[in-house]
Amino acid sequence: MNVKALPVVEGKFNLKNYDETYKGFDWSEAEKEFSWSETGKVNLAYEAIDRHAETYRKNKIALYYKDDKRKEKYTFKEMKDYTNQAANVFKDIAHVEKGDRVFIFMPRSPELYFALLGAIKTGAVVGPLFEAFMEGAVRDRLEDSEASVLVTTPELLPRVPVDELPHLKHIFLVGENIKEEGKYHHFNKKLKEADTKFDIEWVDRNDGLILHYTSGSTGKPKGVLHVHNAMVQHYQTARWVLDLQEEDVYWCTADPGWVTGTSYGIFGPWLTGTSNVIVGGRFKPESWYKTLQDFGVTVWYSAPTAFRMLMGAGDEIVKRFDLSSLRHILSVGEPLNPEVVRWGMKVFNHRIHDTWWMTETGAQVICNYPCLEIKPGSMGKPIPGVKAAIVDDQGNELPPHRMGNLAIKKGWPSMMKTVWNNQAKYESYFMPGDWYVSGDSAYMDEEGYFWFQGRVDDVIMTAGERVGPFEVESKLVEHPAVAEAGVIGKPDPVRGEIIKAFIALRDGYDANDALIEEIRQFVKNGLAAHAAPREIEFRDKLPKTRSGKIMRRVLKAWELDLPTGDLSSMED
Ligand code: PRX
Repeated sequence: MNVKALPVVEGKFNLKNYDETYKGFDWSEAEKEFSWSETGKVNLAYEAIDRHAETYRKNKIALYYKDDKRKEKYTFKEMKDYTNQAANVFKDIAHVEKGDRVFIFMPRSPELYFALLGAIKTGAVVGPLFEAFMEGAVRDRLEDSEASVLVTTPELLPRVPVDELPHLKHIFLVGENIKEEGKYHHFNKKLKEADTKFDIEWVDRNDGLILHYTSGSTGKPKGVLHVHNAMVQHYQTARWVLDLQEEDVYWCTADPGWVTGTSYGIFGPWLTGTSNVIVGGRFKPESWYKTLQDFGVTVWYSAPTAFRMLMGAGDEIVKRFDLSSLRHILSVGEPLNPEVVRWGMKVFNHRIHDTWWMTETGAQVICNYPCLEIKPGSMGKPIPGVKAAIVDDQGNELPPHRMGNLAIKKGWPSMMKTVWNNQAKYESYFMPGDWYVSGDSAYMDEEGYFWFQGRVDDVIMTAGERVGPFEVESKLVEHPAVAEAGVIGKPDPVRGEIIKAFIALRDGYDANDALIEEIRQFVKNGLAAHAAPREIEFRDKLPKTRSGKIMRRVLKAWELDLPTGDLSSMED
């Protein structure tokens, strides 16, 4: 492979003048930065790690890792070696081939990153799963993707119904003192034994890279497939929006089980050769401030719920830390309240920059930029090279200040390639005029800033995590006491929304606190803690359509004391 010189960091790649860049930008310019412009082939893991290891960035720290037990750092050269070893392990032991699904279900640790990038080097499609998932959630995803390899830990293994997953051929366990037997291998041991040289599987730009499962308002979670080509937008937005430069120390707080934790926890920072801080463990305000201080974080990407929790912990704590290295703060995942932006100004002396995008968009789409004035409460403006608009239900563009569907013109580089096993679902996202319809409602002001208004569907965003009400309802009705369940998002000052369930009990069951707790635990153990309803209310009957569908809209209206609207389809 012919290695090209790295792009100049300052200058044309950082956004100096939004309007000018927006007018003149063409993705082919950014595409030239990657190997395919010369060879026709590419591999994201090479572009993120190996290419830096072959330049002056060789001994630069790529990964600073910290949790309660470990504190480690790895240079780009070391990352290259470890990811090569992981690739060899997958190839030699599990015989992974291009397109195979390699899933990773474990807490953050350096091994997670070696495994994920190593699998990409083999041409596999990786599937990161959030460590809090319980058996039902894990099974759904491994079944749908037909994953043949899983990397996990002995602690999480009991949540993997191995015997019910015929496609799952190899399981790599991360940790110490692991007994190897049959399909079970000790990842750390195999890693150590593997060669540090690996022949990368060069793929086409539109070959599969990563599957992120995400929720809609109906059906099980769907596997959103992204391809290697997404790297163009990861790279470009890491410059324009994250504003990453050579000396930066960057920290993204998201877990790689969610799209932010891969697109901007792995790909964006490493495609730009940036030092990346990764912290495992639980959220604690003091330890977050300590991370910012101790690593000298300059660019910090987090989420509104986290900022609101920090805000709730009080301003005095902030003063105990030296946060003078910070120069740029960003947020994603939920509406960023103007109040939080003002708090950020007060305690950090920086504006928090909101960014809007989704699992399906693969990378940032509507953003606030360092070079652009912020209007607190607005998500900002579309990135150069992407057209966004507000459209009506027929796909007609609406004028400023009219609320409608937030839509994006099809064809941006990081757009999902398909929905795994469900092309019809993929197609249902699009409207005449080649509009991708996000499911969010918003309006645009006369200066082209977009303002988020809410979800069009019933999808719940709780503490920045996307939860499909159907998935929770399905789990609830599996409980022996539950006859019917309807689930809504209820506004909450810290978490954005919390999950509230309305339940009609089967005959013979009494509504009491012990049952509420039991049902909550049932969902928690079956799906994940973040999917368990924080509030449960029992009702004799739930509002349904004549065809038997629970009318969540009516539940929401009851809850929020709003008019219930048209009830003509409701059963008597
Ligand atoms: O409703 C929007 C909300 O999060 C949804 C996408 O969720 P997910 O696919 O999990 O991806 C989250 C992180 C990329 C969107 O449809 N959302 C995301 N960013 C914002 C937001 N809502 C308001 N403001 C944002 N900045």
